[in-house]
Amino acid sequence: MACMVVVGTQWGDEGKGKVVDLLGERVDGIVRFQGGNNAGHTLVVGGEKFILHLIPSGVLHPGKTCFIGNGVVVDPAVLIAEMDRLAGRGVAVGPDRLRLSERAHLIMPWHQALDLAREKAKGGAAIGTTGRGIGPCYEDKAARVGIRAADLLEPELLRSKIAACLAEKNFWLTNYYQEPALDAEMIYELHLGFGRRLAAHIGDVAAELNRLLEAGGSLLFEGAQGTHLDIDHGTYPYVTSSNPLAGSACNGAGVGVTRLGKVLGLVKAYTTRVGGGPFVTELTDEAGRYLQERGAEFGSTTGRPRRCGWLDMVVVRQAVRLNGITGLCLTKLDVLTGLDTVRLCVGYRLPTGEELDAVPASLARLAQCQAVYQEMPGWSEDISGARTWEELPPACRAYLERLRALAGAPLALVSVGPDREQTILLDRSLAG
Ligand code: IMP
Repeated sequence: MACMVVVGTQWGDEGKGKVVDLLGERVDGIVRFQGGNNAGHTLVVGGEKFILHLIPSGVLHPGKTCFIGNGVVVDPAVLIAEMDRLAGRGVAVGPDRLRLSERAHLIMPWHQALDLAREKAKGGAAIGTTGRGIGPCYEDKAARVGIRAADLLEPELLRSKIAACLAEKNFWLTNYYQEPALDAEMIYELHLGFGRRLAAHIGDVAAELNRLLEAGGSLLFEGAQGTHLDIDHGTYPYVTSSNPLAGSACNGAGVGVTRLGKVLGLVKAYTTRVGGGPFVTELTDEAGRYLQERGAEFGSTTGRPRRCGWLDMVVVRQAVRLNGITGLCLTKLDVLTGLDTVRLCVGYRLPTGEELDAVPASLARLAQCQAVYQEMPGWSEDISGARTWEELPPACRAYLERLRALAGAPLALVSVGPDREQTILLDRSLAG
């Protein structure tokens, strides 16, 4: 399989880091194609915990190349800090192992300042962004005034672009948001240093990826966030500013659509959401707190507690369609152990009695949706040591069978704990 894509089917935090890390072993390169350091992938390898925000999770495999594609928005200070932290733990991230697209847009200090100022101004209607400047950076990209990684290597152009951008942004920051102005010269000096540090990593990533594929190599595309945070298909405006769908692996990295093979959809055994926005199966009672505590549902980027609820198959089924998912990777199944009963949301019902099979675009309509649940018996056996389908208790297998039927896609793997080894591989073609 030359190209595999891994995407989230819910609102992010489905456990993509572990799966990318696991499958990363079987490919030559791992590629990020959208989002930025709003993502946070937690990996546990040999009992040691790593949190990565920008560098693809495959970096922990020696000999693999990690690529940051043109569709990613990159905060150079965060990237350098992450490289340094990895180096401090004995993981070398030289220019041969980490490639940064010259076309990737940079998150500049004004993007973060505007993100925070806007959220503050919105008060109770805030989106609950990660405050990393993601939205404002994508806005500048679309407005054609963005600063790209390539600009770091052309000092005079960099200086003039920073000055031009700040003239406008400072006007907004000071006059509209009553925030302090930023200093163009200071930002320029800082970024000259970033340019010197990153120069050897910056290149034509699209060309490098295509060369690798032409030479018979294989790639894993690592999606960030999730399908329902997609700016086009998600619960707008409570979404991120990029397209986490599998299709954007092509635009966001520069490979042709005909290159893509397997599309793996990550499904957490229950649902979580960070920040604002509609959430039909949300649990605000004891059961919700149980999932939050047992699942350690606190954001790896912002530390915010995640809202928790039952698994919503309307959301997952829609993700299967939107991404063309060929296999599901179910994560955190062990968190459900010990519940007397488990629930699956099989549809939405409006007060009129009308049933819906997809998340409606209208937030007003979505707010009226009630979850239609199927309740199933739970299991109390410890499943964290299971490595085969047969080792799972019958009630657990029945839950997975129902989930598979409702999703309309086969199960490729089931994760029963945070460690790499705590995995039941069902799609044998994914084995190394
Ligand atoms: P932004 O991406 O920082 O602009 O945030 C927009 C929305 O996406 C907020 O609700 C965030 O909590 C959410 N979000 C962004 N990145 C992630 C992620 O990696 N996991 C889960 N939620 C995320």
